[in-house]
Order: sequence, then structure tokens, then C-alpha cells
Amino acid sequence: MEEKVIPDIVVGRLPLYLRALQRMAEEGRQVTSSQELGERLGISAAQIRKDLSQFGEFGKQGTGYNIEYLVEQLQQILHVDRDWDLAVVGAGDIGSAVMRYKGFADRGFCVKMIFDSDPDKVGTQIGNFIIQDTALMEGAIKAAGIKVAMIAVPASHAQDVADKLVKAGIKAILNYAPLSLNVPPDVRVQHIDPAIHLQRMTYYL
Ligand code: NAI
Repeated sequence: MEEKVIPDIVVGRLPLYLRALQRMAEEGRQVTSSQELGERLGISAAQIRKDLSQFGEFGKQGTGYNIEYLVEQLQQILHVDRDWDLAVVGAGDIGSAVMRYKGFADRGFCVKMIFDSDPDKVGTQIGNFIIQDTALMEGAIKAAGIKVAMIAVPASHAQDVADKLVKAGIKAILNYAPLSLNVPPDVRVQHIDPAIHLQRMTYYL
């Protein structure tokens, strides 16, 4: 059977649903509704029902969604019902903050290694990790079978780093550098640029 193509904008909302549902589960809640989820997220209940219906039947009319079940289902759909190992490139302010952040572990991600090209940084430690030389990056990532990476180097070096990561077998890149990366079609890129988000708000001020 041909696999149904889900629009990326729908996929992009699923992690928001998952995060809100996990928060509800932490609050000790067992059931919720598309209305309540919608109010928490500022998304219409109809949109939420429509998005979820693309993947199956998760709730019953009148009884709502079982939170634990929907969390499990969304984790499976997003492939975070397993842990993904992460490699980080760039051990500066952002890279260091990422290495120290505790919030990835319980959401499907496990930071495994960090690389930098600065000889003064290579061999030094961030938390429990020793910063490795980017010259060894391709081999180390391949050997560990890592598929997901974060780029936290200056924009002028980001494309070069991305090319190396692609060669190493990376299939998903979270890019903090403020430029668009060119990668092959089978590699996903997400950009994080706070200035873009700020500019999107200043339009309204
Ligand atoms: P930083 O200057 O503190 O660190 C960059 C690190 O990348 C340095 O350790 C440097 O040695 C390393 N590096 C340079 N070229 C490299 C290469 N080819 N291979 C491996 N490592 C290399 O920079 P920061 O502040 O951590 O920012 C990182 C990226 O994130 C930049 O592109 C920046 O524009 C962006 N960014 C930073 C924000 C911030 O608040 N610091 C906010 C949003 C984006």
C-alpha cells in the first residue's frame, strides 16, 4: 500500500500536542479533549482533530482522548519512542549550553559527542564530555551510527560543517547558524534563529 503523505505543517504540530499531553500527564491527568488541548495551545479543536485523524482514531466522541495512550501513539508516530543519539558541532556558547541542557533526555534525545575545530578547545571538557577534533568527526559519527546533529558554529563555517555531517551519514540537522543550508533531499534541516522570530513579532509592534 502506498504510504500517505502527511503535510510537514501537520507533522510540525505533533510535537506541540505531545508536549502539552506530557505536561497534562505530569499533572496527573488521564483524559483530555481536543477543546482543552486547543485552548492550551492556541490551536482550534477542529484543527487538532483533523491533524490526529490523519494517523488514525485516537479518541471517542464524548469521552475524549486517553492521555497516556495518545502520548504513546504520538511518540511512535514521531519516532521518539526510542532514544536518538545526537552529535553537536561547535563548542561555543550555544554548544556548551546544549551539552548542559537536561531537557532532551526525557523527550527522545541523548547528546553523545561534541566537536570543535579550535585546538585550544579540543581535549577540554564540557560537563562529562571531552571536546573532540572536527577532523575526527566523520569517522566518530559513522562508527557510532549517529543520525541527528546540531550545528552551533559561526554562519561562515556552517555549510562546510553540514557537508561533513552529510558525508558522515547524518540525516537530520538542527542548525543554529543564521543561514540556510544546502543539503541533499534525504536530509532534513530545521533552523533555529531567534532574530527571525523576533522580526516576525516586531512587524506587529
Ligand atoms: P561561539 O563563537 O561562542 O562558538 C562557535 C564555536 O564554533 C567555537 O567554539 C568555534 O571554535 C567553533 N567553530 C568554528 N568553526 C568551526 C568548524 N568549522 N568546525 C567546528 N567548530 C567550529 O558562537 P555561539 O554564540 O555559540 O553561536 C553559534 C552559532 O549559533 C552561530 O552561528 C550564532 O550566530 C548562532 N546563534 C547564537 C546565539 C547566541 O545567543 N549565542 C543565538 C542564536 C544563534
